[in-house]
Amino acid sequence: MVEATVLHPLLAAEIHADIRGPLTESTHAGIISLMDHYPVGVFRNKKPLSDAEHVAFSRRFGPVERMKTRGDLRVPFPEIIDQSNLDANGAIFPDDDKRLLYKRANRLWHTDMSFHAVRATYSLLSAHAIPPDGAAPTEFADMRAAYDALPEEIKLRIEPLVAEHDYYHSRVAGGGPEPTLAERKLRPPAKHPLVHVHPGSGRKSLYLASHISRIGGYAAEDTQALLDYLMAFATQPQFVYAHTWRVGDIVMWDNLATMHRATPFDDQQYRRDMRRTTVREGNVELEAVL
Ligand SMILES: [Fe+2]
Repeated sequence: MVEATVLHPLLAAEIHADIRGPLTESTHAGIISLMDHYPVGVFRNKKPLSDAEHVAFSRRFGPVERMKTRGDLRVPFPEIIDQSNLDANGAIFPDDDKRLLYKRANRLWHTDMSFHAVRATYSLLSAHAIPPDGAAPTEFADMRAAYDALPEEIKLRIEPLVAEHDYYHSRVAGGGPEPTLAERKLRPPAKHPLVHVHPGSGRKSLYLASHISRIGGYAAEDTQALLDYLMAFATQPQFVYAHTWRVGDIVMWDNLATMHRATPFDDQQYRRDMRRTTVREGNVELEAVL
């Protein structure tokens, strides 16, 4: 039995478990059971887990993606994605740095790694340093509740649709530069149904992201109109939990039942050191692009 405090009745709970060391079978099962119901799980730790502890905890939930051929790393773990605004030496990226411009695109609603054929299940984001005054909360939206609330005619219309997800579609939409051909080759788009069954809860869910560049059978303007409608519908306040970070927090979310977005802060003045692991539906090793 794992204790939890509900943070949002639809989708978020604080999970009271010691995740720093090896998990017992019952704690592990209790966390999964809670996550199936509340796809955003918050673990408040007194201080951040070490990178090794973060990776070890993540591995209990499936295959953790690894990056290869990366150059200078601020965080020297192939499983840790550096989601900070800091370069390899720990200095804040200049305002026009391409890596920072691409990271800012995470302020668009998305689900992680939907542009890959092997989808992400859980992401686990650990807060090592945050801007002051609760700035830059991360927002999450429940794609099962949003699906349930859609008008029946929209459900029928979108049920058979397949969407193409392209990493660079959201990077450019978010204000980043056009990628090079070599970059595009490293991250080709992937196709996924727009509606699927969330494995954890058995509920139907939207699988939606700003990475979507086209929908099969739809003209470009019709794709945009449908996406604009679904995005606005699915991110209405009643479906959204906003997490205000404390140093030491790990937020674990189920990408197959939610979307999320980062929110703006003064990334030229304040250090924000966030580190992510990503659990995938199967083993994946990725080339680094940035
Ligand atoms: Fe993300």
